Amino acid sequence: MGARATETTRELESTSIKYQIGGHAEKMWQRLKGILRCLVKQLEKGDINVVDLKKNIEYAASVLEAVYIDETRKLLDTEDELSDIQSDSVPLEVRDWLASTFTREMGIVKRRPEEKPKFRSIVHAVQAGIFVERMYRRTSSMVGLAYPAEVIVTFKIPVPNLISFAEALEVGYSKYKNPYHNLIHAADVTQTVHYIMIHTGIMHWLTELEILAMIFAAAVHDYEHTGTTNNFHIQTRSDVAILYNDRSVLENHHVSAAYRLMQEEEMNILANLTKDDWRELRSLVIEMVLSTDMSGHFQQIKTMRHTLQQTEGVDKAKAMSLILHAADISHPAKSWELHYRWTMALMEEFFRQGDKEAALGLQFSPLCDRKSTLVAQSQIGFIDFIVEPTFSLLTDSMEKIVMPLIEEASKSESPAFGTPSQNSLGAVSNAEAQRRPSFKSTSDGGTHTENSLATVNLTSFKDNLMKIIQANKERWKELAVEEELVKNVGEQEKDQSRNSTDAQLQEETTRIQNESSQGSDGTTCPPRSIVLQVVSFDTPLSDESNSEKCTNSDPNQKDLTDAQQETQNTDPQNGEPKHCKKSEDSVKATEKEALIQN
Ligand code: CMP
Ligand code: MG
Ligand code: ZN
Repeated sequence: MGARATETTRELESTSIKYQIGGHAEKMWQRLKGILRCLVKQLEKGDINVVDLKKNIEYAASVLEAVYIDETRKLLDTEDELSDIQSDSVPLEVRDWLASTFTREMGIVKRRPEEKPKFRSIVHAVQAGIFVERMYRRTSSMVGLAYPAEVIVTFKIPVPNLISFAEALEVGYSKYKNPYHNLIHAADVTQTVHYIMIHTGIMHWLTELEILAMIFAAAVHDYEHTGTTNNFHIQTRSDVAILYNDRSVLENHHVSAAYRLMQEEEMNILANLTKDDWRELRSLVIEMVLSTDMSGHFQQIKTMRHTLQQTEGVDKAKAMSLILHAADISHPAKSWELHYRWTMALMEEFFRQGDKEAALGLQFSPLCDRKSTLVAQSQIGFIDFIVEPTFSLLTDSMEKIVMPLIEEASKSESPAFGTPSQNSLGAVSNAEAQRRPSFKSTSDGGTHTENSLATVNLTSFKDNLMKIIQANKERWKELAVEEELVKNVGEQEKDQSRNSTDAQLQEETTRIQNESSQGSDGTTCPPRSIVLQVVSFDTPLSDESNSEKCTNSDPNQKDLTDAQQETQNTDPQNGEPKHCKKSEDSVKATEKEALIQN
C-alpha cells in the first residue's frame, strides 16, 4: 500500500467535515481537483492499491456531492435576495403581503410580535402582430375581413375558429366581473408581451411556434380568473383548490380551461399544427402560465439570475416565462395614469375578497381590508422588491440573448439583420425553425425593417422602463406621506385624516380624469372611470356597464370590444392612453357576488 495514498485518504478524512453542506464551494472545488490530480499521479506511478483507490474515489464522490448540495441549496435559497429588506423600511402589513404572496409559503401564518419577519417564506413578429391584430379585427360576419394573400397562405390558424375561440375567451374573462382580472388585463398583457418581443429583438431568437406560444399563453394566462387569490381558494377549500391540490390553483385552471375550449372543433385554433408542434406549444404554454403564479416569483428570479452567470445559453422556456411574468406585472412600468388605474382596480378586487373573508369569518388576507390597507406603501414595496428586480433581470436576459445576435447579424450584414444566425449562446433560431417545416424560418427577409435587429436599442428600452418605474414610485411616495399620517393619528383623527386621503385620491382622480378626457387626438371623450369606481369602491372595470363605446373617429374600431379598444387605445410605445371612454354616469354599484366563486 502506498504511503502517499494512505496520506491522501487521511487528509480527506480529516478535512471532509469542513466540506459538508455550508462549506465554500470554491474551496471545495479546488480540493476536489487536488484529490483527483493526486490520484491520477499515483495511478500513473502504479503507487496505489485497489482498496485505497476505491476509498479515495468514494471520498472524492462525497466531496463532489457536498459541493452539489451546497450549490443547489444556494440556488434554492431565496433568503439572501430578501435579507436586505430592512424591517423598518417596509411596513409590517406590506412585508406580510410580500412574504405570503411572492414565496411558496402557503397561507398566512400569524407572527408573534417579537418574531422578525422572514422572507424565505417570502409567426415571427410580423405574423404574431398579424395574429393579434386580426384576432381583434373581427366582425359579426366574415364580410370585410381582407387578408393579404401571403397571410392566407402562411396563416395556419383557421380564422372562424380563431373568432370563436377569442369570443369564448372574452366570455370566460368576464365571468366573474372582476375589476382587474378581466379581458382588458388579458389584452393588456398580450399587447405588452408583443411589445417586449419586438422592442428587445427577442423575436429574432424565437421560432414562429414559440412566438405563437408566447402570444397564446398571454391571451389565456388569467382565463376565468375568479377575482380571488390562490390562498383564498385554498382557505375556502374551493373545488379548484381540491382539484389542483393547492398547487398553483388558478394558473392550472387558466391553462386547463383554455385547452378545454379547444377540444370543441369550432374553437380549435391549433387544428393545423403537426403533432410535434402541438405538443411543443402545449408544453411551453403550460410552463409559461404556471410561472405566472406569484408564489414562485423569487425562485424564478433567482434561477434566471443564476442562468445568466453561466456560459451556456439561456433556456428558451425560462426566458419566455420571464417575459410573460414581466408583462403580467408591467403596469408600474407604464404611465402614471395607467398604473394608478390598474392599481386601484386591483385593490378593489382585493377589497372584495376581504369583504368575502369578513363574511366567512376568515382573517383578512394582506391588502384585502379596505379599511386599513396601505395602498401607496404596498406599491412602493411592490415596485422595490418585485417590479424593479424583474425588469432589471428581463433587460439583462434580453441583452445576453440578443447582443450576440446583433453582433453576428451586423458582421454577416444579413438583410436588415433579418437572417437569423447561430449566436454564441447556442441559440440557433434559424436551425430551430427549420426543425419544423410547418413553421419556417423566423426571418422577415428584411422586408419589415422597422422590426429588424438593426433597430433594437436595448439601452433605451431599459432606460425608458426604469425612468417610468422610478417616476411612479415617487408618486406613490408622495401619497404615502398622507397615508402614514392617517395610520398614526388617533381613532377620531384617523377618520378625519382618512377623509383627507380620500380627498387626495379624489383630487388625483379628478386630475387624471381631466387629463385623460382630453384624447391625444384632441377629441374629448368621457374618461373610463376606473379611478372613480375605485374611489366609490363598487364598480368593476369589466362590468357590462363598461361596454359603452367611446365616440371614436376611427371607423375600424367601431366594432371592437372593450379589451380591443383598451389595447388599441394604448400607445404601444409608451403605454399612454390614446383615447378614453366610459362615462361617469355608467359607474354603478354591482350586484353582490356569490361569496365563493369557483
Ligand atoms: P396576476 O395578474 O394573476 O399575476 C400577477 C400578479 O401580480 C397579479 O395577479 C397581482 O396579484 C399582482 N399584482 C399586479 N400588480 C400589482 C400591484 N400594483 N400591486 C400588488 N400586486 C400586484
Ligand atoms: Mg394570474
Ligand atoms: Zn395576469
